[in-house]
Amino acid sequence: MSARHLLEVDDLAPSELAALLDQAEAWKRDPASVPNALAGKGVALLFEKPSARTRVSTEMAVHTLAGHPIYIRGEEVGIDTRESAEDVASTLAGYCTFIAARVFDHHLLERMTAAVSVPVVNLLSDRAHPCQALADLLTLREEIGPLEGRRVAYVGDGNNVAASLAFAAALSGLELTVASPPGYELDDVVVDRARNLGGTIELVADPHEAVRGADAVYTDVWTSMGQEDEAQQRRAAFAAYRVDAGLMATAGPQARFMHCLPAHRDEEVSADVIDGPQSVVWLQAENRMHAIRALFASLVPST
Ligand code: CP
Ligand code: NVA
Repeated sequence: MSARHLLEVDDLAPSELAALLDQAEAWKRDPASVPNALAGKGVALLFEKPSARTRVSTEMAVHTLAGHPIYIRGEEVGIDTRESAEDVASTLAGYCTFIAARVFDHHLLERMTAAVSVPVVNLLSDRAHPCQALADLLTLREEIGPLEGRRVAYVGDGNNVAASLAFAAALSGLELTVASPPGYELDDVVVDRARNLGGTIELVADPHEAVRGADAVYTDVWTSMGQEDEAQQRRAAFAAYRVDAGLMATAGPQARFMHCLPAHRDEEVSADVIDGPQSVVWLQAENRMHAIRALFASLVPST
């Protein structure tokens, strides 16, 4: 039996994505209508990296669906040291309805999906952060309404968050402009795949060109988890890509400021922007729970 997995946003069809966001919104409006979809079921939450939002939002999503979340640290089970990733996944699948995991290497998720017949959900890898992108779409829908034809400018590293945002945009009719310094652009494979899905995605070098007139300006850290050795070099490369009041002025007063968090004030974003009136970062963080709750409910096997 093969299971549905969510390793990247485009594991969902556009209609599934839209339905999932509708469901998340409906349950957010009316929490009393959330079903006991995970009653008597366990969800394994495996983390190789730190987390605040993902861990807590996911635990609360499982709890409010009447399931039991089980937080497991990667070093505790010793993935590929104490036993193989496949053996860890097969063990967890014996007790749990899903495995959700935050990993360094995306291939580890692929190995797990090959080993088990329960859904595997990506809670962030080096390549993708799909659950973040679902929450970001939810946030944008709440802030600006229907997404078709609207535009987000992503300024910064062409990383996991940018990649998932590109797929989320492509599947929802949102246009995306990405401004990155040379050498840190979104991967060609991601851009081609997003365009093949019908996405309108443009890569530029100048952040001011990217943000002008955008509905939202999005950024993420310059140094992602696992890249700490490159921090100094990255700070130099990204210095002209800080989202500050000047860049938001170019964007215009309509532009929301978005960041997946954690943020480094006065590195990738100035404090006056992230703490200012255009910022929607706390709504994004809150929406992580609403988005993953709808996702988990959609993945519950029908039998
Ligand atoms: N945005 C996000 O994934 O936050 P955490 O790393 O704290 O989970
Ligand atoms: N790009 C960041 C996102 C953190 C939520 C990282 O991978 O560390």
